[in-house]
Amino acid sequence: MLLTNVGELVTNDPGADREGGPLGIVRDAAVLVEDGRVAWVGPAADAPVDADVEVVDLGGRAVVPGFVDSHTHLVFGGDRAEEFAARMSGRAYEAGGIRSTVAATRAATDDELRTRLAALVAELRRQGTTTFEVKTGYGLSVDDEARLARLAAEVTDEVTFLGAHVVPFEYREPDGPGADAYVDLVVGEMLEACAPFARWIDAFCERGAFTAEQSRRVLDAGRAAGLGVRVHGNQLGDGPGVALAVELGAASVDHCTYLSDEDVAALAGSETVATLLPGVEFSTRQPYPDARRLIDAGVTVALASDCNPGSSFTSSMPFCIAVAVRDMGMTPAEAVWASTAGGALALRRSDVGALRPGMRADLAVLDAPSSIHLAYRPGVPIVTQTWKDGRRVA
Ligand code: NIG
Ligand code: FE
Repeated sequence: MLLTNVGELVTNDPGADREGGPLGIVRDAAVLVEDGRVAWVGPAADAPVDADVEVVDLGGRAVVPGFVDSHTHLVFGGDRAEEFAARMSGRAYEAGGIRSTVAATRAATDDELRTRLAALVAELRRQGTTTFEVKTGYGLSVDDEARLARLAAEVTDEVTFLGAHVVPFEYREPDGPGADAYVDLVVGEMLEACAPFARWIDAFCERGAFTAEQSRRVLDAGRAAGLGVRVHGNQLGDGPGVALAVELGAASVDHCTYLSDEDVAALAGSETVATLLPGVEFSTRQPYPDARRLIDAGVTVALASDCNPGSSFTSSMPFCIAVAVRDMGMTPAEAVWASTAGGALALRRSDVGALRPGMRADLAVLDAPSSIHLAYRPGVPIVTQTWKDGRRVA
């Protein structure tokens, strides 16, 4: 199949760029797809023509690699609209709100969770996301975490075990056995039950959640069980999350809202991606992370939605791009790169996030002449088609 008459093609292949910059833009382009993979990209005039190839004319629209949303919490029950409304009238966001979703999630049946998850996945697809990570973390018992991991694995290969999200009610002091006893459970029976479904281990290293020592225990145990490391850190204030992530060689440390100069320097000299989550600061009225400071220091930045019912109930990567450009100091090109190639690096994936021969034919067609419109036209349903593995999925 040949997708042709592409007004602007973002390849994320710097070698393909005729205009300079990281996006590898080809104008008046075509993409040849074979067996779900990109077989060729280049100017439409040079496209290899074969009589039996199906031709799809995209009418001059822009095409970008499918978005790679490297951070979501899509399996949950309930709704926290009232908590959001309270925040918008001045209440502060606290990690403890997670426990109300834990109660609603435990009360939901598998089918209820599955139906909700499928609706969210369809929502992601309609907005151009073709690869997404899903975390557990609203079960917080052995059976509930394993259930969430199993349901997540039905929709993605990128499942993250986040038993260390917060300490659940029944473990909290003064009546419960306490945080360290909960960590014993996470690194023991819970990890054993979840690891078969997961590719990643994560911990929320933050005041109100887990200390650096507790997080380290969890991440080390996950790594010993064969999982890759990612960390939630520096969301609500300065903290040890970023330093711990870099020390452990994590693929990504996510949030990065409050960073010291040492944190920025550590990230710059590392293989750890800083994943910024603009939906969180939008929905919690906290200051946005400073993407400009990170990029200027040489840090690799990704953007992700963090879609969850508490701190960021958006599934829209175009929305994240628009906010990152408007309020986090990113150029439109940097934000498009961070939500595609950056997300792929955060998941250590070399088959998605770019459109070069050999990569998966995952792409979003925009009802616009250029990818700048993703930030220029906020709130507009600009993605008109989504293709995954060479098939149209939305
Ligand atoms: O990434 N930071 C920790 N966990 C989620 C919040 C989840 C919630 O509020 O339910 C996050 O923002
Ligand atoms: Fe999160």
